[in-house]
Amino acid sequence: MIPPSFIHDLLNRVDIVNVVDRHVPLKKAGANYSACCPFHNEKSPSFTVSPTKQFFHCFGCGAHGSAINFLMEYSGMSFVDAVADLATSMGMQVPTQTIDLHSGDTVSGSRSTTRGQERAGKNKDESRQNLNEVMRAATQFYRAQLKNADHAVKYLKKRGLTGETAAHFAIGYAPAGWQNLEAVFPEYQMESSRNLLIKAGLIIETDDGKRYDRFRDRIIFPILGQKGMIVGFGGRVLEQGDPKYLNSPETPLFAKGHELYNLFSARRAIREAGRVLVVEGYMDVVALYQHGIKYSVAALGTATTSFHIQKLLRQTDDIIFCFDGDRAGKKAAWRAMENSLPYLTDGKNLSFLFLPEGEDPDSYIGKFGKETFEGLFKQALPLSAFLFKELLEHVDLQTSEGRTKLVHDAKPLLKQVTAPIMTLMLLKRLAELSGINQNELESLLQIKRVSSSRSRERAPRPQPVSPYYWLIQILLYQPAYINKLDRDLVAARGEFYEEIKVLKALIEFLDVHPHVANEALTSSVVTYFHDSPHRELLEKIETETLEWDSSINLEAEFSGALERLQEIQRKQRMTELHNKSLNMLTDEEKQELKKLAIS
Ligand code: UTP
Ligand code: MN
Repeated sequence: MIPPSFIHDLLNRVDIVNVVDRHVPLKKAGANYSACCPFHNEKSPSFTVSPTKQFFHCFGCGAHGSAINFLMEYSGMSFVDAVADLATSMGMQVPTQTIDLHSGDTVSGSRSTTRGQERAGKNKDESRQNLNEVMRAATQFYRAQLKNADHAVKYLKKRGLTGETAAHFAIGYAPAGWQNLEAVFPEYQMESSRNLLIKAGLIIETDDGKRYDRFRDRIIFPILGQKGMIVGFGGRVLEQGDPKYLNSPETPLFAKGHELYNLFSARRAIREAGRVLVVEGYMDVVALYQHGIKYSVAALGTATTSFHIQKLLRQTDDIIFCFDGDRAGKKAAWRAMENSLPYLTDGKNLSFLFLPEGEDPDSYIGKFGKETFEGLFKQALPLSAFLFKELLEHVDLQTSEGRTKLVHDAKPLLKQVTAPIMTLMLLKRLAELSGINQNELESLLQIKRVSSSRSRERAPRPQPVSPYYWLIQILLYQPAYINKLDRDLVAARGEFYEEIKVLKALIEFLDVHPHVANEALTSSVVTYFHDSPHRELLEKIETETLEWDSSINLEAEFSGALERLQEIQRKQRMTELHNKSLNMLTDEEKQELKKLAIS
C-alpha cells in the first residue's frame, strides 16, 4: 500500500499538463487546456485539463481523473505502477507502508520500517531491475543470432516475413546447443548471476544441479509488459517439433494470464482504429501487422482471462475476438465471452468473428489482404448474439423442457452482467425465446435491474442541489473548508442518502489526512478515491467545479450550504418532537419546540 501522504506529495510536484502533453498535445483554451480525447473517437476537442485543479475531464466520454488516473487509462498501468512511474520521473522514491504495532496507526516512510524490511524492499526493486536487464541482454543476443542463422532467416522468409517486420517485433533466434547463454553473461560463473538467469526463466536447473538453456533452436518472440520492458519470450520450433511454442515460465516479471502479445506496441494503433482485434497466435499478430492491421494482440497460449479483458477495455470500447472456425476456436470464444460478462458496461462493444475452417488470421490475410479481412468485421457476432446462438445449439425450443433449459443455462451468465441496458437487452431476448415474460424472468432469475439513469450518462443536474451535494462541491474545490464545517450538521439521515454517504466519506478522509486539506497547493482529492464506490459521484461533482474560478464567492456558497443544513436539521427535530404526544414532552422539549417554530 502506498501512503496517501506520498501520493499527495507526488501530485503536488507533477504537473498534469506536462504529463498529459507528453502523450496528447494540448492547446490552451481559456484557463484550461484541451485536446481531442484520447479515450474515445472525436473530431472536436472535449477533453479538458485543468492546471489549477490538476485533473482532466472529457465532456464527451466522461473520462476523468488526476495525472495518475491519466497514466492508468492511457497506458493501461495499474495504480501502483502509475504512481511508481510518475515518482521515478520526478526523482522520488515510493515509500513502503507498514503498520505500527504500538499505536495501530499506519505510518509511512523509512522512519518506522525496520532495517530488514527496508532492505527487502530495495532488494526487490534491484532484483526486478536486474531481471529486466537480463531479459534485455538475452533479447539482444537472440536478435544478433538471427543474423547468423541462415536456416532461421529462411524459415521466416518462407512464412512471408520481411526483415522490417522481424525488426519491429524484435524477433530473434535462440541457437541450438545447451549452454549458449553461459558465454553471453560473463559473470555467469558467479552463483548470483546464474540464479538470476534461472529466475528469469532463461536457464533450467535440474534436480542434480545441471543447468541448460530453456530456448534452443527456436525463433524467439519477445513479449513486452505494460511499461515496454521485455518480460518474457515465446519460442517457436522451426519446422516440426513438440511443443510447437515454448513460452517463458511464470517469473517475477511475467504472468501469462495478464500479458497480451503486442499490446504495448499496439496502443497507439488501437486508439487510432478505435478497436482491438484479439487473435490466438504470435504469428497471427505479426502477419496482420505486416499487412497493415496493427491493432491486434494475442493471449499467450492461455484462454482470454478477465485480466486481459479489463486491460483491453481500458484501451478501447470495441473488442473483436477472432478465432478459428473449429471446435477449439468456439470453445476459446466461449471462455472469452464468459470472462468478459462482469466487465461489460453499456457502450462497450464486444464481438466474435469466426474464420472459415482451416484458416487462421495469418493464412487468411496472406490470401485475401487487409481490406477483405477488415470487411469480415461486419459479420462478427455481437456478444449477445453469440451467447444465445451457442445456448440455442443445446436446446429444443419446441418443447417446454427445452425452453426451461434455455432459461436455466442463461441464468448464471445473465447474472454476471451489471451493465443496465445490456441486462435489459439480454432479458428481452431471453423472454422472446423462452416465452416467459420479462417481469417473470426478472424475478425468476433474481436479477435486479439498475435503472439506467444511475449509469454514467449525464443526468440533468437536480435543481436546486441538496446542501450535501453543495458541500461536496465546495470541499472538492477548496478542501480547507473542512476546518469550518460543523460535523453535527451532517449527522442527519433521510433524503439524499447517497450524497450524505459520500459527504461523510469525504469528511472522514480529510479528517484523517489533514495535510491534503490544509496545503495551499491542492490537487484533485478524488484521486484518493480511485477504488471507492463513491468515486463516480465525486468525479461528477468535481467536473462541475471545472467552470468555477476566482469570481465565485466561496464564503457565501459555504454559508449558504450551512444554512440549508441547519434548516433541514430544524425541520427534522421539529418532526421528531411533534411525533411525541404533547404530554410526553418534557418542559425543556416544549421550550425547544417553541424556539424551533419561531426561528
Ligand atoms: P497455433 O498453433 O494456432 O499458433 O497456436 P500459430 O501462431 O498459428 O502458429 P504457427 O502459425 O504454426 O506458427 C496459437 C497460440 O497458442 C500458443 C501460442 O501462443 C500460439 O501462438 N501455443 C501453441 C503454445 O503456447 N504452445 C504450443 O505448443 C502451441
Ligand atoms: Mn498459424
